[in-house]
Amino acid sequence: MVKKLIVLVSPLKLFMILAILFGSIGHIIATLIPVIGGYALIKAMIGKFYFFKLITILVIFALLRSVLRYLEQLCNHFVAFRVLEIIRDRVFKALRRLAPAKMENTNTGELITIITSDIELLEVFYAHTISPISIAFIHTLFLTILMFKINVLYAVVLVIFHLIMAIIVPIITSNRAKSIGDIQRKNLSDINSSIIDTFYGIEESAQYQFGGERRNEMLEYTKKLSRSATRLSRIYGGNMALSNSVILIGNICILISAMYLYKFGYVNKIEVVVPIIAFMSSFGPVSALSNLANNLVTTFACGKRVMSLLEEVPEVEEVVNGKDINFEEIDVSKVSFSYGSEEVLKNFDLAVKKGEILGLKGKSGCGKSTLLKLIMRFYDVDSGKIEENKINIKEINTKTLRKNHCYITQSTHLFNGTILDNLKIAKEDATMEEIKAACRKASIGEFIEELPNGYNTKVGDIENSLSTGEKQRISVARGFIQNGDLLLLDEPTANIDSLNEGIILKSIWEESKDKAVILASHKDSTLRISDRIKQVKTLAE
Ligand SMILES: Nc1ncnc2c1ncn2[C@@H]1O[C@H](COP(=O)(O)OP(=O)(O)O)[C@@H](O)[C@H]1O
Ligand SMILES: [Mg+2]
Repeated sequence: MVKKLIVLVSPLKLFMILAILFGSIGHIIATLIPVIGGYALIKAMIGKFYFFKLITILVIFALLRSVLRYLEQLCNHFVAFRVLEIIRDRVFKALRRLAPAKMENTNTGELITIITSDIELLEVFYAHTISPISIAFIHTLFLTILMFKINVLYAVVLVIFHLIMAIIVPIITSNRAKSIGDIQRKNLSDINSSIIDTFYGIEESAQYQFGGERRNEMLEYTKKLSRSATRLSRIYGGNMALSNSVILIGNICILISAMYLYKFGYVNKIEVVVPIIAFMSSFGPVSALSNLANNLVTTFACGKRVMSLLEEVPEVEEVVNGKDINFEEIDVSKVSFSYGSEEVLKNFDLAVKKGEILGLKGKSGCGKSTLLKLIMRFYDVDSGKIEENKINIKEINTKTLRKNHCYITQSTHLFNGTILDNLKIAKEDATMEEIKAACRKASIGEFIEELPNGYNTKVGDIENSLSTGEKQRISVARGFIQNGDLLLLDEPTANIDSLNEGIILKSIWEESKDKAVILASHKDSTLRISDRIKQVKTLAE
């Protein structure tokens, strides 16, 4: 796991190493400043006073410390931002590969968690976990060697207490914090969902007068959250006390060792004072580790989720070195398909040529939408084949397939931006004439032109006042702009009134003269524009 995570950011190795280098030297210098002061003090007591030398060295060290700290932070931040960039890029590439089947089959909330908070927590791992651990290790190693040079007992005491701080304290804390950390996160997400739920349901709350209950629910969640927050801060407080006690006991041990060594003549005065000061000021880097442990468990969980997304195999492999065709006809023969173990289509056939409208009729759940998704190649068939111009769609370049197919469903998403932006997604370089013609054909042109800012009206400004029918007409216009030769319509008139239904059907019918159309609907009123009707049966029928 750690290895996989590190491979992901191998381009940043140099900057991570630099951050560790600057950090280690900086911390070593920080520890040495009081040590040198103590050393000079003892020298002065013995009678030699190197005032200017001392001041010069201290000033240089202090300056170096600041510069190194700055460089360390610079490298860490660089790594942090680049890491975010690299992982986001990888995740979005993965999503593009996995879409749209993945989007249908996963809980979107979970995907959003991966894209937002998981990635951000991983950034913490790269920028603020690897380097503190390495810095603490190098810093401790340096001090151990220094102590060892003076007397081995000092080195032993230092190693023991640094190990306690770096390993045992974090383990104790993270064990205590782990379960409550999970509870805290759950409480937080509960209260978030409850608030969002309340907002969405505000009209129902008003109508059925249960605002009070909603409020009580939120209060209950708030109380829970504050209880777990209190427990968490108690644990952090306890952790602080534990760390401080360890350092204090360490200080006492080093004092006793120094006294013992001095009394029996193993060390001189300088060798008493220097190690004591060095020891006392040596805990900065290791005590930073105790806070890391709490995050590490969560970070690895995030890492696992991100990795499994990156490694997921898509339902459909994109074709890039295949064939390009100008669509003339489509043949679906003996197609079977199941979602996991749920069989939806079995030995299904249909054929449509340009100039024909084929209606797909069938009860809800019989597999009409699934068939259109198979033709779009969101999924691949389990057996049988789908051919266009007698070529299996698995051999046709995915880009060409998408360009030839014009897929309109009952739910239209309008993106943030202007109406024009939303129409142009169908064809980036569409001219204003093309766009206006398409909108006129979809019977939405006049409506758009009468808006205060016409085509430049922001969707956000009118979204709530747009009717489903108007939205649907924009979606049809979008399809006309794209101008694919195979129109796939999935319940294009569901949820709209008969006036809008008539308008949309008329425009589809007029547009279909030189196109092949497959129109799925459970409404007879919609299917009446079809030349032929194909009945789709549920497998149970
Ligand atoms: N992404 C999916 N994963 C699992 N089952 C699905 C999925 N999409 C649809 N189904 C199931 O497949 C069957 C056919 O669905 P669908 O093609 O949407 O029918 P229709 O469009 O005719 O109403 C239904 O039983 C539905 O529950
Ligand atoms: Mg459907």
